[in-house]
Amino acid sequence: MSLSITVASGKGGVGKTTISANLGVALAEFEKDVTILDADIEMANLELLFGMEGMSVTLHQVLAGEASPTEAIYTGPAGVKIIPAGISLDGLRKADPDVLENVLDEILKQTEILILDAPAGLGKSAITSLAVGQELLLVANPEISSMSDALKTKIVAKKLGAHILGVVLNRAGTDTTDLTVEEVQTILEANVIATVPDDPEVRRSSAAGEPLVLRSPNSPAAVAIKKLAADLIGEKYIPPAAPKESFIKRFMGGLFGGR
Ligand SMILES: Nc1ncnc2c1ncn2[C@@H]1O[C@H](COP(=O)(O)OP(=O)(O)OP(=O)(O)O)[C@@H](O)[C@H]1O
Ligand SMILES: [Mg+2]
Repeated sequence: MSLSITVASGKGGVGKTTISANLGVALAEFEKDVTILDADIEMANLELLFGMEGMSVTLHQVLAGEASPTEAIYTGPAGVKIIPAGISLDGLRKADPDVLENVLDEILKQTEILILDAPAGLGKSAITSLAVGQELLLVANPEISSMSDALKTKIVAKKLGAHILGVVLNRAGTDTTDLTVEEVQTILEANVIATVPDDPEVRRSSAAGEPLVLRSPNSPAAVAIKKLAADLIGEKYIPPAAPKESFIKRFMGGLFGGR
């Protein structure tokens, strides 16, 4: 049976695309058949994180009735399948958001796990993404301005019949004004199932057009996303030893090994 997960937040710029792309690759690394679809048909940017901008067939052409969904599926790193929305204004002009739901249903039949990178807000394609996703992964930053939009999104998703997988608290840091996990859980009435730290490697990976979990697999944000992927599918992920621990291991090995 197929599983569809909508990654949504309400508020813009909190990390939906970052989480969608890297969670998708991390699940594919666990041998899952995963498709990540950019449902942000107006402000697409999933393709930029994979360095695959400029594809001739994207979701825009599918929504314009000019191509079949299968023609817009590209194989990316670790075998993950990617459906870019398209970044051209001309493509956007022709795309008909009313057919998105049918297209998503058709794509869902062709994959084991469909990850929908939802747009910010509660416009037409955001609502369609929330309606099609059986599961909701709510992305939020640990700040108060992120909470009300996340809460609205959760309420709408629930009304549309989605099950709430939990909250991914992204860009968590050490700022004293940050909301704690407990505070976020109380406000959103949902469990925080992953805390992804603010990590400069995230931006470096996007600039390189290569997913973080492949480019910097041991970076703190990549480790958190890989752990989330493993938890979602009941797999075990053993994070790399902290630098200090691995130094001690190497040191002790050097001291007592080779005799
Ligand atoms: N954990 C993180 N650490 C550091 N930077 C991050 C992290 N997560 C996301 N970012 C950065 O924050 C910005 C917004 O991320 P992203 O595009 O994933 O958000 P979004 O919710 O998809 O935005 P939009 O609402 O515009 O679609 C990007 O510059 C990204 O590199
Ligand atoms: Mg995005």
